[in-house]
Amino acid sequence: MAKGFIFDLDGVITDTAEYHFRAWKRLADEEGIQFSREDNEALRGVSREESFRRFLRGQRQLDDSTAKAWMDRKNSYYQDLIATTTPDDLLPGVREFLESARHQGIKLGLGSASKNARMVLDGLQVEELFDVLGDGYAVMNTKPAVDLFVWVAGGFGLPVTDCVVFEDAEAGVDAALKAGMKCVGIGPKERVGHGHLVCNGLHELTVAQVLAL
Ligand code: BG6
Ligand code: MG
Repeated sequence: MAKGFIFDLDGVITDTAEYHFRAWKRLADEEGIQFSREDNEALRGVSREESFRRFLRGQRQLDDSTAKAWMDRKNSYYQDLIATTTPDDLLPGVREFLESARHQGIKLGLGSASKNARMVLDGLQVEELFDVLGDGYAVMNTKPAVDLFVWVAGGFGLPVTDCVVFEDAEAGVDAALKAGMKCVGIGPKERVGHGHLVCNGLHELTVAQVLAL
């Protein structure tokens, strides 16, 4: 039976995907880059640098310092949006699910590609529920590489096979499966249908259902 649960942040615990979209869109409009809500889907779960590559899609060739300045600008727009995060921004059922798992002795970890994860957790006021925080600073290779989830499992002191990942991104489900972990996919089947269990959010799940995987 699983002894550790690893949660992605954006799209699982809170819905920051919309804020990432608005921040990229602002940069796109300022710089004359084509970028739609649909394009934003391809950025789900991957690192800021990979997101930027997908954002540009070869529309512009930039030297390294300009690329960094653009990413910094997007990040400052994003940080303006997440600055107002409060516990009301937790997705339905999240706090209840985390508390229920903790009461059952399950270790809880964060496995997020975001370098802003601690700032968001702070606003949500759930940081104290987690035993291990894996964010965009923890490892070099982020999702779909296995590194981040393996890093969190190591922090728990558990074998990877004792961990379950909760993910809303295709890249995140890929990473969990490659790591040899069970995975709950959150969102549409076309995106996360390769998870062991698929649902619309933690409000639809019980800890017992996940332990039965
Ligand atoms: C992930 C998001 O959680 O974090 C991605 O799903 C985002 O869309 C990535 O690109 C990196 O985020 P940040 O906050 O480090 O720019
Ligand atoms: Mg996500």
